Amino acid sequence: MDAAKIIDGVAVAKQVRAEVARDAAALIARGVTPGLTVVLVGDDPASAVYVRAKEKACVEAGMNGKTIRLPADTSQADLLALIDQLNADPTVHGILVQMPVPKHIDPQAVILRISAEKDVDGFHPVNVGRVWIGEKNGFAPCTPAGVMVMLEKAGVNVTGQNVVILGRSNIVGKPMVSLMVAASATVTVCHSKTRDLPSVVRGADILIAAIGKPEFVKADMVKPGAVVIDVGINRVDDASNPKGYRIVGDVDFAAVSQVASKITPVPGGVGPMTIAMLLKNTVRAATQRLA
Ligand code: GUN
Repeated sequence: MDAAKIIDGVAVAKQVRAEVARDAAALIARGVTPGLTVVLVGDDPASAVYVRAKEKACVEAGMNGKTIRLPADTSQADLLALIDQLNADPTVHGILVQMPVPKHIDPQAVILRISAEKDVDGFHPVNVGRVWIGEKNGFAPCTPAGVMVMLEKAGVNVTGQNVVILGRSNIVGKPMVSLMVAASATVTVCHSKTRDLPSVVRGADILIAAIGKPEFVKADMVKPGAVVIDVGINRVDDASNPKGYRIVGDVDFAAVSQVASKITPVPGGVGPMTIAMLLKNTVRAATQRLA
């Protein structure tokens, strides 16, 4: 079998960001500059990298991108008070509090405090419900929404297909179910407790791996010709790399790409789509406010 065709997330994300920039320009012409405010509590280095990338992407799309950095010992009450201010600020259309927050802060209390209309992460229970029942004004979490766009742009029709989602997190696995059901796929969710997991995974026409285990999916777990989407971002030790580590997905790319028909790489696959979808949600939040 020929090696799989690679679905290039960088290219698809660039396309989405160009669409977002066009939509943002149309809003600016109507007197509204879409704005995203990211709140970062503490100084986790990986979070700092993600937050900078989000702000930069906003500015490149012609939007307002602002980051509020708070010390790690910020109290939950102070963080919630800041969210109240941002909820009330008409120039802020999207609010994102970067996760994880420090241990003394309850992430669910933070998520609940953000106005559902500004929750461009799609984590608020109101948005979870809106997406689940198919209300168009709901915000879907950016990573699973990005997976749907990648599949569409790669010409993969999910209707009637057996989609297996490996992982059941609130950020990826569960919302992925909701988007795939809405798109008329036949959906199976499996996870660490699934009996005979490899045989369930082998039933996939489309496999979404989001289990957070480096190179977990091996070639013998993939049906020949399947489409494989790798959501994993895992650091593994690598003495040959100057950084001392390298980033791998949840899929053994070298082996699985010999079996799959289409596959996403890591890095350069789903990752870049997440920020593109965040911008898209923010422009939609601004648009919905005008309506
Ligand atoms: N941390 C890692 N990914 C995300 C995300 O998509 N949103 C937020 N708020 N925090 C994250």
